[in-house]
Amino acid sequence: MHADQLSGKKIILGVTGGIAAYKACWLTRELIKRGAEVKVVMTPSALQFVQPLTFSSLSKNEVVVNIFPDNQNNGTSMKTWHIDLVRWADLMIIAPCTVNTAAKIAAGISDNALLTVVLALRSPLLIAPAADIDMYENKITQKNFRTLEDMGYSIVKAEKGELASGLEGGGRMADINKIADAAEVILLGYKRDLHNKKVLVTAGPTNEDIDPVRFIGNRSSGKMGYNIAKAAYLRGAEVTLISGPVSESIYPEVKVISIRTAEEMKKAVDAEMVNNDILIMAAAVADYKPIKISDRKLKKEDNLDMIKLTQTEDILSTLKVSGKKVIGFALETDNETENARKKLKNKLLDMIVLNSLKDKNSGFEHNTNKITVIHKNGEQIDFPLESKFRAANRIISEILK
Ligand code: CTP
Repeated sequence: MHADQLSGKKIILGVTGGIAAYKACWLTRELIKRGAEVKVVMTPSALQFVQPLTFSSLSKNEVVVNIFPDNQNNGTSMKTWHIDLVRWADLMIIAPCTVNTAAKIAAGISDNALLTVVLALRSPLLIAPAADIDMYENKITQKNFRTLEDMGYSIVKAEKGELASGLEGGGRMADINKIADAAEVILLGYKRDLHNKKVLVTAGPTNEDIDPVRFIGNRSSGKMGYNIAKAAYLRGAEVTLISGPVSESIYPEVKVISIRTAEEMKKAVDAEMVNNDILIMAAAVADYKPIKISDRKLKKEDNLDMIKLTQTEDILSTLKVSGKKVIGFALETDNETENARKKLKNKLLDMIVLNSLKDKNSGFEHNTNKITVIHKNGEQIDFPLESKFRAANRIISEILK
């Protein structure tokens, strides 16, 4: 986590009456943790699931429930709170958004405080639906969500899984981290500019076995590649992620192919390349592997000089593609740009992303990165130290430039 994520952003969180309302408490915390200020508006049905006190305690702000405030002095004082609120906000999120609220928004109804805010809203609106499977998949519901999308509202689709009713299927509210990531993409000003594009991302290290116990590896955590996969998905792409052994998690909509070795990664990339428009090779592929993998554990007494190494095949250099965009990475400690430019040329890349290990918060294992992008035409852009999610979005925008 890095404070630059939603720092200084003002978010209205609308909570409607579904069991996922309890997750909106976690979402409030997550948004605040990422630096945002949050003000919560609840529908009357949401009160059946969570108390306003929970949200006011978490957000440190008053929670709006009623259209007409209690203390209006018998109508003698006017309070246009909803107008003040919409003018304050950079973004509104409705999570969970019930099918009822979605239908009302689509129809322009404003019979509660939350809907009044939606109608008056000047900033973008992000909707995270939640419902039981039959209500969610109902034709009218689906039509309403399509209408909302056509109106320009953003939707983080519900996920498949176990539902509160005990049924299995679509309708579970998206993970709160994914909702917060989607909010960040919108607030950074990015659109669904990868819509209809298929993006292949590689991430993490490869492990080259020495014996049944040991391997040659590297310190790649996979964070950069996973953040690229997330950003690409949220910007509309269909994403396939070929991942080495890492402990990062990814959205359920991203197809993951798990591999261990450079050879397995090469096979997977070669097989998937035909189905994709863009390859982003963020993986730290091992350059060397043992010539022979011992089938028994090597002992101290064994002469370790017996581990002879051979080069792995270079995946990018041996790629057979045309008409696709290919992006490589370079991690350098010396003569950084010069080495990156050489790799860009030798590996016939469209663009290369240079990670520097010189900045102490950049590179392996960190949540932040300082990248330099170099295009095929020689153009070079240096970006500041920022979260890997922001860096991932920069990379995507540069690819689309
Ligand atoms: N790469 C690859 N296949 C390999 C090794 C690297 O496709 N066997 C890719 C990486 O995924 C990265 C780019 O090539 O996108 C550059 O990787 P890097 O390790 O920086 O460069 P190398 O070519 O391995 O050169 P060196 O390690 O000598 O710097």
